[in-house]
Amino acid sequence: MPPEILDLAEKYPLLFKTVNYLKTTSSIFKNTIGKQMKHNFNFELSERICENGLKMSNNNWDTYCSNLNNLVDMSIEFLKLQKNLEKTGRYLHSTFEEVEKNEYNTNNKDLDGPDYLWGLYFSEIFWKIHHNFSNFSLNDFMSNVPPTGKVLEVPCGTGFFLCEFLRKNSNWLGIGVDLADSAIKFSQILFHTNNIPKNSYKIMKMNFHQLESNEKYDRILCGEFLEHLEDPFSALKKLKSLLTNGGKLFITVAVWAAHIDHIFLYESSDQVREHIRKAGFKIEKELVQAVFEKDETDPEKEKIPVSYAAILS
Ligand SMILES: C[S@@+](CC[C@H](N)C(=O)[O-])C[C@H]1O[C@@H](n2cnc3c(N)ncnc32)[C@H](O)[C@@H]1O
Repeated sequence: MPPEILDLAEKYPLLFKTVNYLKTTSSIFKNTIGKQMKHNFNFELSERICENGLKMSNNNWDTYCSNLNNLVDMSIEFLKLQKNLEKTGRYLHSTFEEVEKNEYNTNNKDLDGPDYLWGLYFSEIFWKIHHNFSNFSLNDFMSNVPPTGKVLEVPCGTGFFLCEFLRKNSNWLGIGVDLADSAIKFSQILFHTNNIPKNSYKIMKMNFHQLESNEKYDRILCGEFLEHLEDPFSALKKLKSLLTNGGKLFITVAVWAAHIDHIFLYESSDQVREHIRKAGFKIEKELVQAVFEKDETDPEKEKIPVSYAAILS
C-alpha cells in the first residue's frame, strides 16, 4: 500500500476493513471502490456510517457483513432490472398496488415494506452517485440554515438524511414519515445509535398522501420518492404546499434507472425539471449524475440511467 493510503487506513480502520470485505466478496466493488475513493470521497462520514452500522449490528462482525451483503444484492438486482428495462422500455411495476402486493407485503409481518434498507444505508458510501448526493446535501442544503426550524424527511427510508440534518442542526425539530414498518424501525434505531435526543424528532408511519398541508416545514428532504409514485407531479405540488415562505426542498430522483419498487418512468432530467417548474419551484442548484461511467460525458441524454438532485425553493 502507498504511504498515503496506509495513513488513511490507520485513521479510518473500519471503513478500510469494510472495503476489503466488499472487494473480496464482490467483483462489482472490487473494480470500482479504489477509483471512487480517489475523488471527493468523504472519509469521515464513511467511517461514521460504518461505525454506526456495526453498532446497529450488535457489534457483531458477521451480522455486519450479512447486512453489508444487502448492498451487493441490491447492486446485482439493479443491473438485472436495468437490463430488463432496456429490453422492455418499462419498469417491473406500473402501479403502487402491484408494488405493495409483490414487493412490500411478505408473510413476515416485520418485513412490511422494502427489504433493501441496509443496502440503501451502505450505498451512501459505496454507490458513487449516492455518496456525491450525501456530500451535496451536507454541504449545500444542511449548512448555513437558520438556528431553529422544522425539517421533514419524506419518505425517510433509513432516516439517514434527517439524522445528518439533526446532527448538524441540533436546535431543529425533525419529522420523518414513511409508510413502511421496516423504514420506521430502521430510522428509529439509526437515531438512537446517533444519540439524537428523543425530544428533537418524531418518526411516523404514514402515507405521504395523508400529510396535512396546514402543517408547514422550513426544510424538506425528499430522496428517491417521485419515481415510486403513479403521479409525481401532484406530489411535487403537495411538497410545495408543505413548505413555509422561504422554505427549501432537497430532492433526488431516479431517471431511467430500474428498481423493484419504481413506478413512474422518467426518461430524462429535463422531464423532471419540467415537473419541478410547473409545480411552482425555482431550481437553486443541481447535481445531475449518470449512473454508468460510459454515459458521464452526456448525462442529459434521454433513456440512460441518471440520478438527478436539486435544491428547490
Ligand atoms: C428508495 S427509498 C428512499 C428513502 C430515502 N428518502 C433515501 O433517499 O434514502 C423509498 C421509500 O419510499 C417509501 N414510500 C413509498 N411510497 C410511499 C408513500 N406513498 N408514502 C410514504 N412513503 C412511501 C418506501 O417505504 C421507501 O422507504
